[in-house]
Amino acid sequence: MKKLVVLSGAGISAESGIQTFRDSDGLWENYRVEDVCTPEALARNPELVIHFYNERLQQVLKAKPNPAHTALVELEKAYRVQIVTQNIDDLHERAGSSHVLHLHGEIRKKRSSVDENDIRDIVPIEKGIQMGDLDKYGKQYRPHIVFFGEAVPNIEPATRMVEEADILLVIGTSLNVYPAAGLLYYARPDAEVYYIDPKADSNGHLDKRIHCISEKAGAAVPELVKQLLEKA
Ligand code: APR
Repeated sequence: MKKLVVLSGAGISAESGIQTFRDSDGLWENYRVEDVCTPEALARNPELVIHFYNERLQQVLKAKPNPAHTALVELEKAYRVQIVTQNIDDLHERAGSSHVLHLHGEIRKKRSSVDENDIRDIVPIEKGIQMGDLDKYGKQYRPHIVFFGEAVPNIEPATRMVEEADILLVIGTSLNVYPAAGLLYYARPDAEVYYIDPKADSNGHLDKRIHCISEKAGAAVPELVKQLLEKA
């Protein structure tokens, strides 16, 4: 079976009702990254940061996987599929994808700011992270999110997965944030690369071998999956 890797970003969840970051109504239009998504912000104002991610969590709990997420599950019939996502939502998992690697963390989890291996599910999930919820060192649990300026522990395995891929699908990402965006350049020269994003064609610095599909994921991904299954 051929290996197929998906690199997804906020755009794949847009049609599920989850805001992207850099579109016109995106999150970073209404919040400053330095106020809610840096280690300094967490140290300075943990309440604001935790409130921001509890709001994100509420959006995710209301959302459902869309046809793009569910189409990717179909690919598992004919390919060894690995999802590498920049998204913190669990829509790929809820759609049924078997192998999902999160680069920027997971909104349903909290972690100790002292022991990076102390990562737990938020329970009860609907309440989000509560102030006063302390780890064994007596420190406030934080969102299990990779903030700007923090290391991306899963970038090494993700890079290996892309290097081994026969087919790479890049879906719904502005390719603005590194090292995630750099994964594209690890695709083998003989790999087939597809980029699905309404702005795909206007992304000027792309290798010309990339098949750009300038459409929304909800329609374009099921269509591409159909083609990939026919030729598998
Ligand atoms: N279908 C496909 N793509 C879409 C859709 C859609 N329905 N709607 C929007 N898009 C595209 C936009 O054109 C844009 O290129 O999704 C992309 C979203 O880009 P960003 O908002 O920058 O999101 P992303 O690329 O995932 O951001 C990467 O930045 O803020 C950090 O950690 C955060 O993981 C995030 C990272």
